Amino acid sequence: MKIISVDSQKRKYKVVIGKGLLGKLGQFVKGIFHPRARVMIVFQTGVSVYARSAASSLKRNGYTVYFHKVLDGEKAKSQANLFRLLRDLLAKGFERTDGILAIGGGVVSDLSGFAASVYLRGIPYVNVATTLLAQVDSSIGGKTGINLPEGKNMMGSFYPPALVISDMDVLKSLPERELRASLAEVVKYGVIRDPGLFSFLESNTSKILNKNPAALERIVTDSARIKAEVVSRDEFETRGERIILNYGHTFGHGIENAARYKKIVHGEAVAIGMAMAAHLAAELGICSPGLVKRQMDLLKTFGLPVSVDALKINATTSFQAMMRDKKKAHGQLRFVLPVRIGEVVIRAGISAGEIRNILRLFGAK
Ligand SMILES: NC(=O)c1ccc[n+]([C@@H]2O[C@H](COP(=O)([O-])OP(=O)(O)OC[C@H]3O[C@@H](n4cnc5c(N)ncnc54)[C@H](O)[C@@H]3O)[C@@H](O)[C@H]2O)c1
Ligand SMILES: [Zn+2]
Repeated sequence: MKIISVDSQKRKYKVVIGKGLLGKLGQFVKGIFHPRARVMIVFQTGVSVYARSAASSLKRNGYTVYFHKVLDGEKAKSQANLFRLLRDLLAKGFERTDGILAIGGGVVSDLSGFAASVYLRGIPYVNVATTLLAQVDSSIGGKTGINLPEGKNMMGSFYPPALVISDMDVLKSLPERELRASLAEVVKYGVIRDPGLFSFLESNTSKILNKNPAALERIVTDSARIKAEVVSRDEFETRGERIILNYGHTFGHGIENAARYKKIVHGEAVAIGMAMAAHLAAELGICSPGLVKRQMDLLKTFGLPVSVDALKINATTSFQAMMRDKKKAHGQLRFVLPVRIGEVVIRAGISAGEIRNILRLFGAK
């Protein structure tokens, strides 16, 4: 078992990573939830079995448990679902000393964390992260929120969980495409901060794809540690450090948006985005062609796409979507570009023509 600490202005919290954690959940939340707290377990169909074992452990430790099931998929992060959850808490008489336990991926925790931040102006919430993406990314850093009809994550808050539990056992049932897509984010951590992690990924691809628990624990721990370090230093994205987590995401967001979030999942778009960003870095003389190839090879070994050929998207539409990026500064896109494995720089002032050229080179029409 590994424990990572995350610093936040609101509270410090721990991320616990290991095996067999779900059955001990009731003990982990002692000191976080009030001893006689009521706990609302928020979950989706895909993780019902884990919601039930979490509930048994909580009950054994004296907690009163309720269930709140949300729709599967991104549509769970809607205004209607937020209000349905808030009103369910109210109907069950939840008070400030009660809490929310989110079990699932980023969708469940974004919705639950946001509800926890606004219900009675804030109640404790614990996150059991059940997707690899949630374990390496969304569970850490305190960003919560829902989608508006106009765009993703347009309403939310910074509200850190009181505790994160990442149990390797639950990854057994994770669909293969989800696993592969989340590995793009792990590759990202290697490129931005950790040559050791990058080499580990290169030498252990089959163990990782076969969900070997020790290999998964290693990559989750390294990724969570990097995310925790970065967000602890730049919690509100004001110091310019947190932007490095956006490696591959500037192109990636444009691609997934141009594809209307169909035929491609987020991590796949990030893989293509990293391939494009590395290519751009090599063109600008920031990194060597060797890095571009090394990263490309690793992404391919994980079965991730490295071009938009299958998407039939348009370069101009993708570029326009990129220009709506929330992380623009003074109207300019900022690209995170690799210098070497483990080190990146931020560059603005890349021309629109250059960006479109890269999109076309990777298969956009
Ligand atoms: N808050 C943040 O910092 C942050 C960061 C990155 C992404 N996000 C958000 O996270 C969301 C994506 O999260 P995600 O990739 O975890 O997807 P997800 O939450 O949609 O989960 C994917 C699917 O897998 C199922 N599932 C979850 N765990 C499972 C398991 N162990 N076994 C079998 N099935 C399981 C779920 O029921 C769901 O249908 C997006 O909404 C994104 O905006 C937030
Ligand atoms: Zn991402």
